[in-house]
Amino acid sequence: MKKTLVIEAHPHLHDGSRANLCRVEALRSHSNITVHSLYEVYPDWTIDTKDEQQLLLDHDRIVLQYPLYWYSVTPLLKKWFDDVLEYGWAYGSKGVQLQGKQFILAITAGGTLEDYQAGGSDWFSISEYTKPLQATIVRCRGTFLPSWITYDADQLTEKQLQIEAAAYVNYIQDQSLKAYKL
Ligand SMILES: Cc1cc2nc3c(=O)[nH]c(=O)nc-3n(C[C@H](O)[C@H](O)[C@H](O)COP(=O)(O)O)c2cc1C
Repeated sequence: MKKTLVIEAHPHLHDGSRANLCRVEALRSHSNITVHSLYEVYPDWTIDTKDEQQLLLDHDRIVLQYPLYWYSVTPLLKKWFDDVLEYGWAYGSKGVQLQGKQFILAITAGGTLEDYQAGGSDWFSISEYTKPLQATIVRCRGTFLPSWITYDADQLTEKQLQIEAAAYVNYIQDQSLKAYKL
């Protein structure tokens, strides 16, 4: 069983979030999954690079869980990338520490699947909006696995969110997941 780390990055997990909080509550009952909430660990945004790198080394599968904010990651998660993925550690000729690690984006979005297509109100797919993250992970020699996206998150009922969260927990533990290779 792969050791799974969920890096959770909602700015208001306990004062406003419904979808991400529901996911975190579903994850809690799984002792084989480490949940690491960036906004709770770093309220002053001073990220401990060495601690974060050690966490990454200790796990084989890394899930980045966040609400989509302006088609992008939340700001502390962006800072996490900037601080933690150091040259010579994560990338560069000697930066091989993330080689072979699996990454999953676990995004919640206000828009619907229909919105996220050409002709829809958000025009592009979320796969297109996450291209910088895909390139970053590939640059760091990681494996980018298909994302888990909860669309229309603000409109879902508590019951629907719970069903969605349970499916999410199953998905991120699925050992048969792999990146498609030609
Ligand atoms: C500052 C901000 C920016 C947002 N930008 C987007 C966006 O670009 N696309 C989208 O689909 N939803 C957007 N939303 C909606 C959130 O993604 C949505 O409310 C969230 O994923 C629901 O999860 P939660 O209940 O855990 O907060 C935005 C919300 C906020 C507060």
